[in-house]
Amino acid sequence: PLRVAVLISGSGSNLQALIDAQRAGRLSAEIAVVISNRSDAYGLERARRALIPTQVLSHRGFPSREAYDAELAALLDRHAPGLVTLAGFMRILTPELVARWQGRMLNIHPSLLPKYRGLHTHERALAAGEPIHGATVHFVTPELDDGPAIVQAQVPVHPDDDAERLAARVLTQEHRIYPLAVRWIAEGRLALGDDGLAYLDDEPLAQPVV
Ligand code: GAR
Repeated sequence: PLRVAVLISGSGSNLQALIDAQRAGRLSAEIAVVISNRSDAYGLERARRALIPTQVLSHRGFPSREAYDAELAALLDRHAPGLVTLAGFMRILTPELVARWQGRMLNIHPSLLPKYRGLHTHERALAAGEPIHGATVHFVTPELDDGPAIVQAQVPVHPDDDAERLAARVLTQEHRIYPLAVRWIAEGRLALGDDGLAYLDDEPLAQPVV
């Protein structure tokens, strides 16, 4: 099966969704390693409980982003994944690392891209009075939160929402769509074309699957 590396920085609830999907036979892939840049990430505990190898590569003490990413690239190579999934990995990657994993690296972002790239997406969606918010799985390209979208989930924004309530509603949907995208890759149904478009079942995705 496809070997998947999952990169995390925190709670790892998306990692848990991938673990649960693998267990249920819904991933068609094997989580080969979980890598965190933070030793206190709760997701490491989730991985250990699932008997998945873990690696901590702290960003502390590296002189530059390039130096960190070179080490991260070497670590990834040692585990030889066919797919790298960013699951709440809160670091910007260098273009060199991204290029190396072109078409084989996915990210999940808590907004309906191209809206609200970057941080504090829930706060910004609330401040803008958006009626609908959500999450997007996309191929990673050198521009931050900019690669071709694969699948999106929409949720309503309620009048009494705060960022925390909205984030929880979005997260529930993230847990549904991330395993789906990984499965499509594992089954050979999803790929990044040379034209920069995402292809599902040999059809270019003009819009993400909703
Ligand atoms: C998720 O909402 C994910 O979309 C977001 O961080 C959260 C991680 O939660 N990612 C980003 O903001 C990437 N810039 P988790 O650790 O429970 O999966």
